[in-house]
Amino acid sequence: MPATSATGPMSVELVAGGLLLEVVAAGAAVRRLVLTDDEGEANVVLGHADPMTYAVNGGYLGATIGRFGNRIAGARFSLDGMEHVLAANENGNALHGGRVGFDRRQWEVQDQGPAHVRLGLHSPDGDQGFPGALEVTVTYSVQPGTVRIDYTATADRDTVVNLTNHSYFNLDGEASGSVDDHELRLSADAFTPTDAQLLPTGELRQVTGTAFDLRQPTRLGDVVASDDEQLRLGNGLDHNFVVTGAGPRHVATLRGRSGRTLEVSSDQPGVQVYTGAHFDGTVTGTSGTAYAPRAGIALETQGFPDAPNQPAFPTTVLRAGEVHASTTTWRLARER
Ligand code: BGC
Repeated sequence: MPATSATGPMSVELVAGGLLLEVVAAGAAVRRLVLTDDEGEANVVLGHADPMTYAVNGGYLGATIGRFGNRIAGARFSLDGMEHVLAANENGNALHGGRVGFDRRQWEVQDQGPAHVRLGLHSPDGDQGFPGALEVTVTYSVQPGTVRIDYTATADRDTVVNLTNHSYFNLDGEASGSVDDHELRLSADAFTPTDAQLLPTGELRQVTGTAFDLRQPTRLGDVVASDDEQLRLGNGLDHNFVVTGAGPRHVATLRGRSGRTLEVSSDQPGVQVYTGAHFDGTVTGTSGTAYAPRAGIALETQGFPDAPNQPAFPTTVLRAGEVHASTTTWRLARER
């Protein structure tokens, strides 16, 4: 049984058909996504062995990222002529919302049923330097073969917002080794190259003729081994791709050796594809195994990194009183 604390349940299990999703209130994080079919059972996301880790420092594993996913250069931005200074947490930049991002907050379970849970968070005005108080919700709902994530946010002052989920997938099982043999297909004709600090340069680069052309299924081990300056900077893939089109649409399809597939759809303009170079054995996973480099791949549907400082990028501004709403869907199946 999921444990409870004085402030509500520590974690919630949602079940639909052969799918079980465990969500931890700390970080509103996905800890386990267990798929069961005739051929067996596998947990296809990376998670911490100890659920208490999420409240302290979950290393973003499976977490809800906010107020602003990925990096904001120099931990500052201007909005309507007013400069805002953020809580820098990486090389003088703000990564994933700053020093104490939404991934380290205790979210409140606001509504819960067998196949859904809604978590809410109040982020006060000035939180990590961001203007405006923000009310955020994230709702996870499951159906057989599907996980859906709905976000809402409203602010009492004009601000910026970029929410995403930071699950790392390994479709062959969370302790099965690297995802090098996974194949990835992306609906992306372009990506946003970065500098050495992984900040976007502002360029939108076409993928044609580069290692970033993943419009056909491509083995990840081959991508990361390509001789490409951008891949060296990211120590593999750690890049935002420009998702083709607008509105709810296909973003990515991932396939493991097992034939398990994940199809990601979203209404967001970008997806950060991160092949998890930093895993160095210091994180112990749900089944007791230490994660090594590329133990999983994150597919973070999002606004573009550093959009508040890049006027040519799609806007991430949320005006006071407006509702930010976005949805990401994971469809899971097995091809034989
Ligand atoms: C970023 C990486 C970062 C990682 C932290 C990813 O979203 O793109 O650069 O190291 O999160 O877990």
